Amino acid sequence: MTVSPDPSSPGPSSPPVLIRPMAPSDVPVAERISDEAFLAADLLTVPRGAPDPTPRPAERSERWIARTRSFLDTDPQGCVVAETLEGPDAGAVIGFATSMVRERLWVLATFAVLPGAQGLGLGSRLLAAAEQSGRAAGCDRAMLSASDDPRALRRYWGAGFRLHGQRLLSGVLDRSALPAVTGLREGTEADRDLLDTLDRERRGAGHGPDHVALAAQGALVVDAAGDGYAYAAASGPALVAARDEGTARRLLWECLARTEPGADVEVGHVSGANDWAVDVALTARLTLRHDGWLGTRGMDAPTTYLHHGALL
Ligand SMILES: CC(C)(COP(=O)(O)OP(=O)(O)OC[C@H]1O[C@@H](n2cnc3c(N)ncnc32)[C@H](O)[C@@H]1OP(=O)(O)O)[C@@H](O)C(=O)NCCC(=O)NCCS
Repeated sequence: MTVSPDPSSPGPSSPPVLIRPMAPSDVPVAERISDEAFLAADLLTVPRGAPDPTPRPAERSERWIARTRSFLDTDPQGCVVAETLEGPDAGAVIGFATSMVRERLWVLATFAVLPGAQGLGLGSRLLAAAEQSGRAAGCDRAMLSASDDPRALRRYWGAGFRLHGQRLLSGVLDRSALPAVTGLREGTEADRDLLDTLDRERRGAGHGPDHVALAAQGALVVDAAGDGYAYAAASGPALVAARDEGTARRLLWECLARTEPGADVEVGHVSGANDWAVDVALTARLTLRHDGWLGTRGMDAPTTYLHHGALL
């Protein structure tokens, strides 16, 4: 199955909506839709024993809004909303998709439909409309990070994505397990060409303008020999990219060492191609569980690479 070549044409059961470009004024509404839709999906799919999903905290909502506004600056053609055309809610935005083109790579950042309007074909139309940007730019590879929502997985498989199970390692770090890490330095904006080169080797495209959002999330740490980098956020790594497993392990240990003692730490988005990260995080006595899927099209799951959930 492939996505509809004409995203403007409704499916047989789709309610009357207009699929249109996202405007800056739509961003706060989209943030609310995404929080509600992900919370509902997480409540249905949370494994026994895992912490109960909670609404997004205010500071993460603000970061979400800032990041999405920057997508509108860099990738307006990849960001679309579904607006109702009829009824008392006519004119309301009830779903959206945001995506970006980075060189030859199309990245789906977020995709959500209000819980009451799901399963009616809106997601299919939004995804097809967002994908037009990648097609127009001639992208031959694509990445996304999916929740466990069966509707999302069905959509992505239908759009030709291979789905790789992801692991999340979380908990309070055993700091006595932290090794002495050498050969790393603080990164600066002057390292951006190196970072883009490393990203091209790992995923086929640099992060380009996304380094601004990544730097807002955590400190940039760079391997002194130029073989890798990481963004170390307060709760763990936001992204790790390295040429080899040894460098990737040192960067991950450094990200873990930089978290607050006693804080909850997360090492997420660990695909089967990155068992080195499972090894590091289990050594640090974090707890391992399944958490979502990495979707790839036209490429394998990147190795020695822990992707960012929205910027991949
Ligand atoms: C993922 C999401 C955006 C899709 O939007 P949607 O409007 O529900 O999508 P569609 O109706 O076009 O497609 C849903 C598909 O799942 C199927 N489906 C519906 N309910 C289902 C269920 N409980 N289990 C499995 N499949 C289901 C539908 O039949 C449809 O498949 P089909 O077109 O092959 O028949 C939406 O469900 C959502 O917001 N989910 C929560 C947030 C999320 O997970 N977002 C994805 C980011 S990773």
